[in-house]
Amino acid sequence: MGKSVEQNKDQNILCDEKLQHIAFIMDGNGTWAKKRGLPRTAGHKAGAKAFKSLVEYLSGTGLRHMTVYAFSTENWSRPKEEVDAIMDLLDEYIDTAEKNFKKHDVRIIFLGDKTPLRPSLVEKMVRLEKETENSGFVLNIAVNYGSHDEIVRAVNACIADGLTSVTEQDIEKRLDTKNSPHPDLIVRTSGEIRLSNYLLWQAQYSEFYFTNVLWPDFDEKEVNKAIAEFYGRKRKKGGLLK
Ligand code: FPP
Repeated sequence: MGKSVEQNKDQNILCDEKLQHIAFIMDGNGTWAKKRGLPRTAGHKAGAKAFKSLVEYLSGTGLRHMTVYAFSTENWSRPKEEVDAIMDLLDEYIDTAEKNFKKHDVRIIFLGDKTPLRPSLVEKMVRLEKETENSGFVLNIAVNYGSHDEIVRAVNACIADGLTSVTEQDIEKRLDTKNSPHPDLIVRTSGEIRLSNYLLWQAQYSEFYFTNVLWPDFDEKEVNKAIAEFYGRKRKKGGLLK
């Protein structure tokens, strides 16, 4: 459906079976705030707004799965004020999502280890996952997520299940992302060109799109550019071109 990208430049792009899952690294909130003389927390607030608009847009394009990196296992080293601000934004988002989940066909799944998160937040996360479990568009939100941690937890789950040797499938089905196919496309904003412990297993054959645009400025127009570039790529996945 690459040609729809060309034909519908000003309309919603329709993703087809070639593009089922896009994962985002929402980078550049701090830089966005600094440029405006604002505190970093204002950048995260603007980032959360951009995230909400993008969910609304992408859930209407035919895409089936979207994943965002909201907080990594390494982000705990940031100042407490910043960590708390990100957790508060998640908390607020959950409240809004909970109010609207019957209207919006979005299934929310949290990736990552919930153990160290504040108990009131965990309670809401678990409730929202349960309430939305029959919705169609899958939105994975990675919170206290790190790929290495995820893989170690999956291997430990195999051991707990009594396995003495593992196959790729054994691990795959115990990953936090078990409800989604591997991302077809991984997008990182703000000019950084690395994965930062994000979906390392799942990125096996993902296409990458890096842009200098800062996350709070990453809008429909920008995601359309990423999608158009994706449809221009030739994906061999280790085979030969068809
Ligand atoms: C990286 O940018 C961004 C984060 C560590 C946090 C991302 C969180 C949000 C967008 C809010 C999450 C809320 C919801 C509701 C999902 P950075 O601050 O490291 O940017 P910098 O490199 O410019 O400093």
